[in-house]
Amino acid sequence: MQTHEAQATKTSAAPGHETQPWAFTHLAPAPEALRKILARHRKEEGSLIPVLQEVQRRYGYISREHMAYIARELRRPLSEVFGVASFYAQFYLAPRGKNMIRVCLGTACHVRGGQKILDAFSRTLGIQPGSTTPDKEFSLERVACLGACGLAPVAMINAETHGRLTPEKVEALLASYRAASGAAAPVPPERNGQGADAAR
Ligand code: FES
Repeated sequence: MQTHEAQATKTSAAPGHETQPWAFTHLAPAPEALRKILARHRKEEGSLIPVLQEVQRRYGYISREHMAYIARELRRPLSEVFGVASFYAQFYLAPRGKNMIRVCLGTACHVRGGQKILDAFSRTLGIQPGSTTPDKEFSLERVACLGACGLAPVAMINAETHGRLTPEKVEALLASYRAASGAAAPVPPERNGQGADAAR
């Protein structure tokens, strides 16, 4: 977290902002990159979603401080900014791992064992869908369709599509990504405190 953001003071509602437990009234000036994004869109009608998209592209996710800056600069209620950011699946409100894994549970993948593939990723990584490994190497999420139904069951890791997966292939696949990034082997779920019991 950048220093100027850390200086923001938690307080109650600011004028023009709804009460939120994390509303900020004493925000330091926004980081330069964020100021430029806001300046580009400030006068646009319907600028909130484009701003959120640009902030996510720049920072990888949208933090609470980002939302507070956006609300202040666009003169929108903080609750509205949070509501939009949390409504759309395209927005991430927490940092993601270096490698994004999307496992398809759409109809074609579901009937061909997509849940078993998701379980295999979850078990091997020791995390539940929607979370990130402690070493920040992998984030795991389920999606509805990846547009490669003929290859079901399918998962994407970053921009690469992997089709006709089996649970046995998942471990080897993850090992190859870890080897490519020089990351350590995964911590067994029973030792990292995030057991994937529910996924077994
Ligand atoms: S249902 Fe899985 S890729 Fe379409």
